[in-house]
Amino acid sequence: MKIGILTSGGDCPGLNAVIRGAVLKGTETYDIEFVGIRDGWRGLVDADFFPLTRHEVKGLSKVGGTILGTSRTNPYEGERGGPENIAKTMYGHRLDGIIAIGGEGTLAAAQRLYNDGINVLGVPKTIDNDLRATDYSFGFDTAVNIATEAMDRLRTTGDSHQRCMVAEVMGRHVGWIALHSGMAAGAHIICIPEVPLSLDEICEQVISAHDRGRAPLVVVAEGFIMKGQEEAYSDKGLDAFNRPRLGGIGELLAPLIEQKTGIETRATVLGHIQRGGAPSGFDRVLATRLGLHAIDALVDGAWGQMVAMQGTEIVRVPFQDALGELNTVPLSRYQEAAALFG
Ligand code: F6P
Repeated sequence: MKIGILTSGGDCPGLNAVIRGAVLKGTETYDIEFVGIRDGWRGLVDADFFPLTRHEVKGLSKVGGTILGTSRTNPYEGERGGPENIAKTMYGHRLDGIIAIGGEGTLAAAQRLYNDGINVLGVPKTIDNDLRATDYSFGFDTAVNIATEAMDRLRTTGDSHQRCMVAEVMGRHVGWIALHSGMAAGAHIICIPEVPLSLDEICEQVISAHDRGRAPLVVVAEGFIMKGQEEAYSDKGLDAFNRPRLGGIGELLAPLIEQKTGIETRATVLGHIQRGGAPSGFDRVLATRLGLHAIDALVDGAWGQMVAMQGTEIVRVPFQDALGELNTVPLSRYQEAAALFG
C-alpha cells in the first residue's frame, strides 16, 4: 500500500507528531510506503511529492510547524485541480489514498473529494478547537499554554503601572482559547464570539477590578462581536477562501475602554505566536495517537472518515457526521467562568 500525507490550512503545533506517528506505525506494522505531499492540496494537484521514510520523521513529535508545508489551496481550483485529474495523478504515482490533516475547510474539501471517488482519510487539526466531532484538537492545548503565559506576563507589567491590559487571542468562530487562557490567567472579563457584550458591560468589569486595586485583564477572541456590530472586526482583507482576515479587535477596544473608564489601557495581539513552536506534552500525545489510529483506519478501508478524540478514546467519524456544525463554547461554560469576572 502507498499513501500520501498532506497538511493543509493554517499550521498548528502537533502536525509533525501526527506525521511521525502515522509513518512509524505504517512502515513498521503494515509495511506501507509513504510520500509527503508538499503544501497541502497544492502539492496533490501538482504531484509535488517526496518519499517519506522513517528517517524523515525522526525526532519530529516535538517540532512545531509542518515538514510538509501547508497552504490554503482549494483542490477543485486550477487547471490540474478536480477529482478526475487528482485520480489520474494518484494512479500515476500508485497512490492508494491520502491522509489529509487539516481543519474545517480542509476536511470539507476532503469530504467532497471522497464523495467524488478519491480515497481520503481525515485527521482534524485546529488551535481554535472548533470541530464538533472531536472533544479536543491538537494545537489547542499548546495555544492555551502560550496565551496563558503571555497573560501572566501582561499582568505583572499591568500591575506595575496600574494599567488595564487587553490580550487578543485567536478564535475565529469560537472562544475556547480565550475562555481557557482567560480562566487560567485570572482575566477580569473574557470576550468571545458566542457571547456579544456591550462596551458598558466590559467596562463595568474593568472598573470593578480596578476599584479593588487590581490591574484589569481583558481577554478578547479575534472573532468577538461587540453588541451593535454586525460582524467580527477585520481590516486586513480576505484570505484564499474569501474569509475576512481577523485580528485587531483588541487594538480597537483598548482606546474605547480607556476613554470610558479613564484607566490607561494597552492592547497586545498574540496572533501567530499561538500557532508557533513546540507542541505541549498533551498535544504531542494526542497528535501521535491520531497518527497511529489513522493508519489502522486506512488499513481497515475506513475512507471518508476522520479520526477523533472522544473522551479518552480515539474513534472514527464519517465526514458527513463530523462537519457542518461548529464546536462552540456552551453558554453554561461561559457563565461558569463569569463567576470569576470583575
Ligand atoms: O483557524 C485557525 C486560525 O488560527 C484562526 O484562529 C485564525 O483566524 C486563522 O487561523 C488565521 O489564519 P492565517 O494564518 O491564514 O492568518
